[in-house]
Amino acid sequence: MRYVPIYCLRDGMKLGRNIYSSDGVTLLSKDVRLTDEYIKSLEKLGVNGVYIEDTVSHDIAIKSVISDELRVQAVKSIKGIYNDPTNVSNSIATVENLAKSIICEILNNKNIMVNMVDIKTFDDYIYSHSVNVAVLSSVIGMAMHLDSTKIEKLTASALLHDIGKVFMPKDIVNKVEKLTKEEEKLYRSHPEKGYRYIKQHYTVPVTTYVGILQHHERYDGYGYPDGKRGEEISKFGRVLCLCDAYDNLVSERPNKKAYLPSDAIEYIMANNGQIFDPKLVKIFLRRVAPYPLGTILKLSNGERAIVIGNNEECSTRPTVRNLENNTVYDLTYDKKLKNVTIIGVENI
Ligand SMILES: [Fe+2]
Repeated sequence: MRYVPIYCLRDGMKLGRNIYSSDGVTLLSKDVRLTDEYIKSLEKLGVNGVYIEDTVSHDIAIKSVISDELRVQAVKSIKGIYNDPTNVSNSIATVENLAKSIICEILNNKNIMVNMVDIKTFDDYIYSHSVNVAVLSSVIGMAMHLDSTKIEKLTASALLHDIGKVFMPKDIVNKVEKLTKEEEKLYRSHPEKGYRYIKQHYTVPVTTYVGILQHHERYDGYGYPDGKRGEEISKFGRVLCLCDAYDNLVSERPNKKAYLPSDAIEYIMANNGQIFDPKLVKIFLRRVAPYPLGTILKLSNGERAIVIGNNEECSTRPTVRNLENNTVYDLTYDKKLKNVTIIGVENI
């Protein structure tokens, strides 16, 4: 199986995974052959790519960090909460249970390197984004060796981090053009609005709502709402800022193309110590694969190869299989390949 961006999909390709709507409805099932019609509909929905099965990737099994069932259930529940945040007692129990289920599945999954790109539609963006930030935060929280209660609170905070957007006009949240100064000011109030709402209505630990308040603070002090810097920002705020940024970067938006995971990771490295906490960036690089399984790479020796393995010790040098002669190379440990570099990602 491998991920193929929407603009590279062709009639006849076989789908490798189900595609769901935010209501949990299966839009297209695994094994379906794509048609031009299907591809056009996916494009209209804002899907930036899908997983396919083909001859070059038939032996590559990509395991998502959490199961499809849990992801579908989580997106559906988050949609319910964001659309009716007044149903307080039901909401907090749902969030806490979701956080526990996400953590439980991640703990049962031995390989917790994130190798999967999430499939989102424009309409569902805020809900699936919240679930993705929760999954990433949970993975990072575990790698930070936080205790289980803290990881639960962090995951709950991630699920609710953008709830403040519910209290602002939809045309600002979804605006494609550049926001005016006034709109920008209003948009930037969403962490505070979310924080105030949760603090007032939910009985949740302080760390949970402080994470919501601080998810747009920057390590160098140029973020919002309070311009806090470094460790003045809570641990939760720093983790959410990093996971939120990564998921935004790799997602297609009406006003921006999706970054490749490798480009998103390069952006994070470039902003290490400015936007992001360097200690967390280090952890992130060990847990999120810049070249997920199934990515086709162009190598500096002229060969094309597909990623078949990743290791957290050196995530930028995966194990690959040559597409022409099927030779397998471990770019981290194979001495003959020390001078060979990855010069690009190829989408076919
Ligand atoms: Fe936000």
